[in-house]
Amino acid sequence: MSKIELYNNDCIEAMKKIDDDIIDLIVTDPPYNLGNFMKNRDTNLSKMRDNFFGSAGWDDMEFADWEQSMDDFFKSAARVMKKGGSMIVFMAIIKVETIIRLAEKHGFYYKTTGIWHKTNPMPRNMNLHFVNSTEAWVYFTYKKRTGTFNNGGAMFHDFIETSVTPNGERKCGKHPTQKPESLIQHFVEILSNPNDWVLDPFMGSGTTGVVAKHTDRNFIGVELDKNYFEMAKLRIEERQNETKCD
Ligand SMILES: C[S@@+](CC[C@H](N)C(=O)[O-])C[C@H]1O[C@@H](n2cnc3c(N)ncnc32)[C@H](O)[C@@H]1O
Repeated sequence: MSKIELYNNDCIEAMKKIDDDIIDLIVTDPPYNLGNFMKNRDTNLSKMRDNFFGSAGWDDMEFADWEQSMDDFFKSAARVMKKGGSMIVFMAIIKVETIIRLAEKHGFYYKTTGIWHKTNPMPRNMNLHFVNSTEAWVYFTYKKRTGTFNNGGAMFHDFIETSVTPNGERKCGKHPTQKPESLIQHFVEILSNPNDWVLDPFMGSGTTGVVAKHTDRNFIGVELDKNYFEMAKLRIEERQNETKCD
């Protein structure tokens, strides 16, 4: 049975409760620092989606503040990681260089930048420009050049294609950037083993926790926002059938 620890707090504060050198894998999807950029783009995105991430309030920092917050995060992550542990950080393609520079500063070894391609993206302004259907993921190991890599002899490419999050995974509420479970499961199964400890310090609606539990990993999840935290808790505790989730 998986051990699960969930914190409704700022991740830097919550991670102080985690012992040194115990985490095998971090899979996380922090704010991309695109909120202000998108708001200034004169698109009608915020009108089209009432839960647009730029309006949600957690992705509207100035670049320097966001960079400092990511620096603080990697410092805390380095303390809790096992030597030879792995980390996947989802990120906007235009911010990948910053993420690599900061993670390397704290002892992470940069391995790969890959792409997640959404096969059914929102066709926003499709007659005006190329529809955005990709996000990046950045793969690191900690203090070693290789870590767990369960490929079973198969070749894994540096891109993955899935649909956007299906409605069946949104029964406990809406999160504007919820990742599909199949996407996260791909990384959890390749980069960790059953009974390992998986951490997601920006867990949002809890997708990494749902996958960790279903694949017999232990999980520590942190989310700052109370509503998203409650959503994550319901999903991870598999209480989707409660009235709130119907
Ligand atoms: C991109 S979303 C993650 C979505 C998640 N992958 C999912 O599948 O639902 C980032 C989340 O980080 C949370 N967050 C932002 N700053 C935080 C902080 N300092 N500590 C913990 N959580 C934070 C936001 O509230 C948001 O839910």
